[in-house]
Amino acid sequence: MQFEVIAKCHTTRARVCRMKLAHGITMLPTFMPVATQAAIKGLTPQQVESLGITLILNNTYHLNLRPGIKVLDEVGGAHKFQGWNRNLLTDSGGFQLVSLSKFTNITEDGALFASPFNGEPTMLTPEESISIQHSIGADIIMQLDDVVSSLTVGPRVGEAMHRSVRWLDRCIEQHEKSGRKDKQNLFAIVQGGLDPALRDICLDAMIERKDQVTGYAIGGLSGGEEKGGIKQCADRLPSDRPRYSMGVGFAEDLLVCVALGVDMADCVFPTRTARFGVALTFKGPLNLKLGKHTKSMEPIDKNCPCPTCASGMSRAVLHHIVTIETAGAHALTIHNLVFQARVMGGARDAILEGRFPEYLKSFFFDYFGDTG
Ligand code: GUN
Ligand code: ZN
Repeated sequence: MQFEVIAKCHTTRARVCRMKLAHGITMLPTFMPVATQAAIKGLTPQQVESLGITLILNNTYHLNLRPGIKVLDEVGGAHKFQGWNRNLLTDSGGFQLVSLSKFTNITEDGALFASPFNGEPTMLTPEESISIQHSIGADIIMQLDDVVSSLTVGPRVGEAMHRSVRWLDRCIEQHEKSGRKDKQNLFAIVQGGLDPALRDICLDAMIERKDQVTGYAIGGLSGGEEKGGIKQCADRLPSDRPRYSMGVGFAEDLLVCVALGVDMADCVFPTRTARFGVALTFKGPLNLKLGKHTKSMEPIDKNCPCPTCASGMSRAVLHHIVTIETAGAHALTIHNLVFQARVMGGARDAILEGRFPEYLKSFFFDYFGDTG
């Protein structure tokens, strides 16, 4: 990876960076759409690329179950498999195991879970997660971490944090011996729940391993509104490495994270909410299922350059089809991804032009103001 800080905001910690990976350049800060099953639901890779998106996320857990590493190895990895020519990041699987299954049991060796196909006990170790991510071939791969909900309190939080450090060492070792370090970049994930002392211990340990990792993620905070943990991590993480806040996707949260020095974020929210009939706009989310849109011939946002708005598709027709015709969900997915890209692209432009604080102010005024 080539990583370069291009510009910095003078009053916040926001910055613009240029990240060059094996599949091209991604300008940061950026939002990464989630393609859990090797597809952004409803869209072709060509559509996604045509929106200007240069980095998407796949999940190791899902791709390991299907199509599996045999297929991925045979076809030459997930880029070729899904027809995606730009950058790709894979999450390591631990978070998905914990959030998808009540039956996951974490041991020191790894995460033990019941196979969703046959119920057989299956183990995902840090070494296996990395080796599956090598078969997938993502440009950025994540360590296997021990994730607890941000609502968890007590000794389990510390245990998970310390285990995540030990698992990072096992991931580093697996990655070092693979000979793939020039093509694939390993990120560490800082854990420690909402406890600042635990976060600091984790930061100490993971910053010590700086020469063995390419970047850092901030984990375990995707559920909440808690920004203290993000600030603490972003303040201490090395400034010459990308900082990735996992599971953040509301526009208002993204901009706060950017102001704190975060470079990357991902979330299923914009694509999922699209399928439920909600369009994201600079005046706040718009629920197209509501009856008030029945006769509205306006587009979602007349200033939006996305193919859905630019083609003149009305709120009325979106209201009519959104939950009964897949084309409605696709149209909203396209709009919402372009909205996320405009929020982040707007932040980059504002930082470059020295007006990021004003950008924040006007975003929050429009988004939460009572402008109808
Ligand atoms: N996605 C959202 N939060 C997390 C986290 O803490 N760890 C991982 N691996 N993925 C996440
Ligand atoms: Zn649009």
